[in-house]
Amino acid sequence: MNVRWVGAEKTVYELVGGSNWFYELMDFFYEDVEMQNQIRHLYPEDLSESKRNTADFLIQYWGGPSEYSDKRGHPRLRMRHAPFPIGGTERDAWLASMDYALAKMEPETRILEAMKEYFKTAANHMVNNEKRQ
Ligand code: HEM
Repeated sequence: MNVRWVGAEKTVYELVGGSNWFYELMDFFYEDVEMQNQIRHLYPEDLSESKRNTADFLIQYWGGPSEYSDKRGHPRLRMRHAPFPIGGTERDAWLASMDYALAKMEPETRILEAMKEYFKTAANHMVNNEKRQ
């Protein structure tokens, strides 16, 4: 099943209630990135653009408007992450912050599971520094 279309009638974007849900998710995500401080150094000091870009990307991915690509072009996420050394440690810290954010947002179970599955696969794909386990 295409996880972006849970049940095929509505997009996940519609089911969670639209763009604000993703902006709140990213607020919690970066709150945890700041708190646990394991990958914070990889991000710029001002997180507002990072929040915006990641939220817009997720909005587009989960079936909402394509503002991300209108602004930034094709996502090419692995390429965009190439400047940052991402090993197993960084991937796990990133996923832990996303787990924190998802727990705060409390989406319904089928959406939670679809998102966790997607983030696990996508975060693995972003690993570009195998030596940093
Ligand atoms: C599910 C996996 C991931 C997704 C969907 C994702 C998504 C994104 C997006 C959309 C951007 C903004 C790109 C742009 O400028 O247009 C971004 C930036 C970034 N990501 Fe990820 N990412 C993922 C995993 C990771 C991991 C594992 C790390 C490791 C720490 C990471 C670190 C960063 C950093 C440092 C930036 C740059 C922030 C900035 O300069 O604004 N990402 N990510």
